[in-house]
Amino acid sequence: LILPVVLAGGQGTRLWPMSRSARPKQFLPLTGPTSLFQQTLQRVLDPSRYLPPIVLTNTEYRFLVAEQAQEAGVVLTAILLEPVARNTAAAIAAAAAYGTRTFGPGVVLHVLPSDHSVAVDDGYWIATDEAAAAANSGRLVTFGIKPTMPETGYGYIEAGKALSNTTMEVARFVEKPERARAEEMLASGRFYWNSGMFMLGAGTFLDECRRLAPETIAAAQSAVELAKADLDFVRLEAEAFGRAPDISVDYAIFEKTDRAAVLPVSFGWSDLGSWDAVWKVSNKDAAQNVANGPVTFSNTSRSLIVSERAHVAIEGLEDVAVIASEDAIYIGKLSEAQKVGPMVKTLRKSA
Ligand code: GDD
Ligand code: MG
Repeated sequence: LILPVVLAGGQGTRLWPMSRSARPKQFLPLTGPTSLFQQTLQRVLDPSRYLPPIVLTNTEYRFLVAEQAQEAGVVLTAILLEPVARNTAAAIAAAAAYGTRTFGPGVVLHVLPSDHSVAVDDGYWIATDEAAAAANSGRLVTFGIKPTMPETGYGYIEAGKALSNTTMEVARFVEKPERARAEEMLASGRFYWNSGMFMLGAGTFLDECRRLAPETIAAAQSAVELAKADLDFVRLEAEAFGRAPDISVDYAIFEKTDRAAVLPVSFGWSDLGSWDAVWKVSNKDAAQNVANGPVTFSNTSRSLIVSERAHVAIEGLEDVAVIASEDAIYIGKLSEAQKVGPMVKTLRKSA
């Protein structure tokens, strides 16, 4: 059986002003009635494949996690609370340590970001089973997405020699390249995007951590050993966990390991990293508009108009994102929605 490991500790600043540090994007109903976190849990419900999931988050989001899991009717193995944010390497290492203690070293971890939109079709399940088989044979498997633009916010995977009909060795893993490098990799046709979803044998992953990220695994393991149960939560021990370096699993393990494999997939995937990406996966009207909340518009096209409370009216605009939260409004070109990220940094400095 596979143990789902759901990462729900990130802040999602590029979807400002809806996504705030108190309520980041994985907990918002961005693409339908349920949140992306709830949709992630719904994908791992099949008891013939999956054990009850582990969710990793920080103390601030613990009640959001517990309430949303309960609302989705999902029973969890545990909610592990990180006392300080130490990025994904430490979080996954803690999950591997906890999962191994609970289910033994043979357990396979399906690591899932909680803020992605995924279209589940037959191909999705075939890929899941193939990834689990490769993980069982000692590979650290990433799900590869065919790139469509020189995105600099993703990891790139160069596929190497074939391991099976579907999986390949990872010849190179380049996390978040410069623009010129991303353009080269896109043009070469040999690279996939790292989806951020992984299938990992817990034992293999722990071995690679000991070799490549010894401080991370030492910190995560003692934080799990010294953890305290508190209501529905497992609090990782603060001093030990705090000793873990702040580094993502992509830099700490995937750029370095020679046990990685890539499984190219064709199901619909979006990391919803920007308002533009939310628009892309949403249902549109005839003029390519997406509207959500109390909004009225005319002579408007290719736009995303979202409001939480105030009535928003738009006339005669094209390619615009209008996002009105309770207490802040963003207006910008939809096609340049990536620019929200730098703007939020400026806002933080001036606040
Ligand atoms: N529990 C926990 N603790 N979760 C975290 C933490 C943490 O400290 N930091 C991030 N996360 C969660 C986020 O909520 C998200 O679900 C996931 O881990 C990935 O973190 P991001 O911060 O969103 O990573 P990224 O988007 O910059 O890059 C990763 O994802 C890309 C695809 O979306 C990398 O894996 C890239 O290689 C990949 O292309
Ligand atoms: Mg992300």
